[in-house]
Amino acid sequence: MRDVLISPSILSADFACLGEEIRAIDHAGADMIHIDVMDGHFVPNLTFGPPVIEKLRPHTKKPFDVHLMIAPVDPFIHAFAKAGANILTVHPEAGPHLHRTLQAIRAAGMKPGVALNPATPASIIEPVIDDIDLVLVMSVNPGFGGQAFIESQLRKVEQLRRMIDQTGRDIILEIDGGLNAETSPKAIAAGVTAIVAGSAVFKGGPTAYADNIRTLRPSVHA
Ligand code: DX5
Ligand code: ZN
Repeated sequence: MRDVLISPSILSADFACLGEEIRAIDHAGADMIHIDVMDGHFVPNLTFGPPVIEKLRPHTKKPFDVHLMIAPVDPFIHAFAKAGANILTVHPEAGPHLHRTLQAIRAAGMKPGVALNPATPASIIEPVIDDIDLVLVMSVNPGFGGQAFIESQLRKVEQLRRMIDQTGRDIILEIDGGLNAETSPKAIAAGVTAIVAGSAVFKGGPTAYADNIRTLRPSVHA
């Protein structure tokens, strides 16, 4: 069974002490830190931007897996690079020139990712698959934590698994939304290599984080 990365989404963390929360999930075994940036326009919710990410950067050495739910993206790419983002993932619907955006992300020194909403087909990846390092399958409609997992997205994961295998490249296949001890094994069986989880990681407070992360890993279900 392939190794699976766990990327806790800090959308479910205590925003009053984000630095402490990031240190806690780092020590609890997180592989990456998933940071949801929302603009109240592309999605119906607001979070934070580069200045907050920059202040969080010294709190961990783990990669910052930044999920942009903003439109437009291009004017902000350099600000996210400067703030310390390692992976920058965008939605194709956020702008008219996806390929140009992905090139700009790479040129700014980050790994480009593409996020697919539940109604966005896997095929949109095809023309840009050689230009990306991560595909993010949204298993909820983006905007809020704590929503129910949309099972139909597992078929899209299987399709993307086949497409990625054909490239022979190590593209991360990540899933985001409604992941927990019950849905994570299904996503792993379908072929994901990274699990994003917000509410399932942060429930119960810092003393529960290590156990919460463990229940999302494949070995727990073997
Ligand atoms: C939703 C975000 C997710 C969210 C997941 O728009 O992209 O990363 O935080 O939260 P849970 O794991 O609670 O569904
Ligand atoms: Zn996300």
